This record gives sequence, C-alpha cells and structure tokens, in this order.
Amino acid sequence: MAEVTFYGHACFSVKDEETSLIFDPFLNDNPLSPVKSDEIKADYILLTHWHMDHLGDTFKIAKAQDPMVISTFEPATLCESRKIRAHAMHLGGKHKFDFGFVRVTPAFHGSGVPGGHACGFIVNFKGHIIYHSGDTSLFGDMKLLGELEKIKLALLPIGDNYTMGISDAVRAVEMIKPEVVIPMHYNTWPVIECDPEEFKKEVEKRTGTQCVILAPGESYSLL
Ligand code: NI
Ligand code: MN
Repeated sequence: MAEVTFYGHACFSVKDEETSLIFDPFLNDNPLSPVKSDEIKADYILLTHWHMDHLGDTFKIAKAQDPMVISTFEPATLCESRKIRAHAMHLGGKHKFDFGFVRVTPAFHGSGVPGGHACGFIVNFKGHIIYHSGDTSLFGDMKLLGELEKIKLALLPIGDNYTMGISDAVRAVEMIKPEVVIPMHYNTWPVIECDPEEFKKEVEKRTGTQCVILAPGESYSLL
C-alpha cells in the first residue's frame, strides 16, 4: 500500500513496498524532522529548487544510496557534475519512470541556481496523482493544472513570507480541486509560523476538499 509521510517543512516521502520517492530532503538541519538522512530510503529524490531548505541532504543521501535526482535542467546538471545520478526535465515536461510519470510544473520562486527556474511536480505514483507545488506564490494557472491532471493529493505551502500564506493557499485549493490537501512549509521557523487548523477550517468551509494536517513523522495512506 502506498503512503505519504511528512518530515516537516517541504519534505515528504511517497512509498510502497518497492519504491520510495522523497521530495526536497531537508532532514538533518530541519528543526521539525523526526529522522535524519541516514534513516530514510530513497530510490528517487524530487528536487523543486536549490535553496538549502529543499536541497537539504541530497548529497548525503546520493552518496549513501545512489538515488536518481529528478529536477529541472540546472540543478540536475549540478548534481551530475558531482557524480550524482540525475534526470533533467523542465517546466511543462512529462516523463515516465518505473513508478509512473512525473510532470514538471511552474513555481513562482527563485531557483537558487543561475539561469534556473523553481518548479513543482505532479507525480503519478502507481496510479495515485500527487501535486507537490514546491515553494510558490498563488498563480492562476493552478486551475489549469487541476484540469490537466485529476489530482488526488495536493501538498501546498501555507507559511507565508516566502510562499503563499493561508488565504492564498485556500484559493489554490479552490482552483486545483484535489480530493485531499496537506499543508507544508510552515512553523519551521518563527517567520513562517501559522495555525494549520485555520487553513483546514477555511478549506473545508469553502471547498469540497478534505484537509489532512500531518505532524512531522505522520503518514497518510493512499487508498
Ligand atoms: Ni525556496
Ligand atoms: Mn523554502
């Protein structure tokens, strides 16, 4: 059975008995993470951008486990220059991997590398469609993403300051129309403190989407 586990901030794993993906593996220096980088299994790392709170322990995990890093061209090339296996994609591109497809989505945010672009991912993991938006502002084409793919689970930032805050993230849910949303990128540091219960209340009042709040270390089963 497939499940999604939250490690705090923007770091999630999506795994079943065979395959484990990890989004933005910020673990060892993540004040919210209950695990360190040597305690998680990664066959693939999906990297939304090259900021330290997302790149995190990519190099350490790559050295120990030889996963494939999936990212946009510039971060993927930087990984390859460090002898890390990488698959370069870019905005709007879709590619099939052994677990399912990955579609790279725009994110309005810095990339952390010259000439790069931050991204999000829509992943089909063994038939479950999951959208990890990466760090982003609200943008109107989120509506289009929800039309292009029937998104079951959306992982969206709510912490404000660097990304969408609660009210904009509720607007995002209205446009994406996922079955379930899990909030991320909040309460890691004082500048992004907020109450996820407030997000849940607004989402469930204004949309047909269920909001699941995961404490770091908790999992959500994809049925
Ligand atoms: Ni960032
Ligand atoms: Mn961030």
